[in-house]
Amino acid sequence: MDMKAAIVRAPHAPFVIEPVRLDAPRANEVLVKLTATGVCHTDVAIVEQLLPLPMPYVLGHEGAGVVVEVGKSVTAVQKGDHVVLTFGSCGHCRPCASGHPAYCVSQPPLNFAGRRTDGSVTIHDSKGEPVNAVFFGQSSFATHSVSPARNVIKVRRDAPLKFLGPLGCGLMTGAGAVLNVLKPDADSTFAIFGTGALGFAALFAAKLAGCRRIVAVDRVRSRLELARELGASEVIDTSSTELDKALGELGGCDAALDTTGVPRVIEAAVGALKPCGQLGLVGASHESTMSMNIMHMISGRVIRGIVEGDSDPTRFIPFLVERFLEGGFPIDRIAGFYPFEHINAAVSASTSGKTIKSILTF
Ligand SMILES: NC(=O)c1ccc[n+]([C@@H]2O[C@H](COP(=O)([O-])OP(=O)(O)OC[C@H]3O[C@@H](n4cnc5c(N)ncnc54)[C@H](O)[C@@H]3O)[C@@H](O)[C@H]2O)c1
Ligand SMILES: [Zn+2]
Ligand SMILES: [Zn+2]
Repeated sequence: MDMKAAIVRAPHAPFVIEPVRLDAPRANEVLVKLTATGVCHTDVAIVEQLLPLPMPYVLGHEGAGVVVEVGKSVTAVQKGDHVVLTFGSCGHCRPCASGHPAYCVSQPPLNFAGRRTDGSVTIHDSKGEPVNAVFFGQSSFATHSVSPARNVIKVRRDAPLKFLGPLGCGLMTGAGAVLNVLKPDADSTFAIFGTGALGFAALFAAKLAGCRRIVAVDRVRSRLELARELGASEVIDTSSTELDKALGELGGCDAALDTTGVPRVIEAAVGALKPCGQLGLVGASHESTMSMNIMHMISGRVIRGIVEGDSDPTRFIPFLVERFLEGGFPIDRIAGFYPFEHINAAVSASTSGKTIKSILTF
């Protein structure tokens, strides 16, 4: 079918919306008309080649929409269902079979290869040239998506779809890091380094977990003000405060999540943990190595890398939709909406710190 997609044709280039041709869904695939799709920092990381993938590419991996057509072996969803698109996993390797699809052994080919696993292409441009797509099984910076059924999660029809796309990646990752992995006690002190989309999802989750003290750290004042309003008991602004000193005054954290990926922030976070405290890592930056005080680690501290919040999306996305509808996971307080045509403005707004979670609407 004919549709429109935002293509990035070279590293650091802007997105350009072009007419393209989308392949028909195969037996195990679902055609979805996108209602909205979130902009995740990982999309930006591809454009900036922090994750070097070949161009041209149709990115986007936080889609939400309505099922238009299903392949003949698809049973989990049907035409008209409201769905959130999420990351791909094989469903049968050891991590998938044990409930940890985020660590699927086929994660790279399923999410980053740009093609189906048989090498076929799903999107061609107006000249008939292939464009890399199938990004996280969806390439949702487009009006429509053809996705493997495992990427397609059915959600309640009465939930406002335009808010739900980011549950497919960023918000699921931040919330899952807290609720599925770090699991802080109700009486604990939990610190969040970086109050972007993942950091706010972690903040909402730490509140759901009942953490007594929640410390939010960032360098953008407006984000910290909102963090305080939405449940942080203390905030640290690294643009005006010395981080190690401020953390020292806290008296130690039981658990923490870093979303900045900045080595010196992570080093400070390790130092702020109490003995046996856990630090989760989800973010990456252009500096990829850090130094570590071995004495900190001998006292039982744990540093744990986390993919997609170690979530089982079929269970966790509907769980987060329920919390959103109850008011305990207020996506509406961090979302900023942009028409699809303004995709470059949406990306700039999230990288500049203006909008916490940019969402494109179609
Ligand atoms: N592990 C996963 O599965 C997964 C999934 C989605 C996103 N990510 C990654 O997680 C990271 C966070 O994503 P996001 O969407 O929340 O990004 P974001 O840019 O919205 O948030 C990062 C925050 O960190 C803050 N920050 C950066 N450097 C800082 C410093 N020196 N001191 C204090 N604060 C600082 C920024 O101001 C920003 O608010 C990205 O690297 C993204 O690619 C990982
Ligand atoms: Zn697998
Ligand atoms: Zn993402």
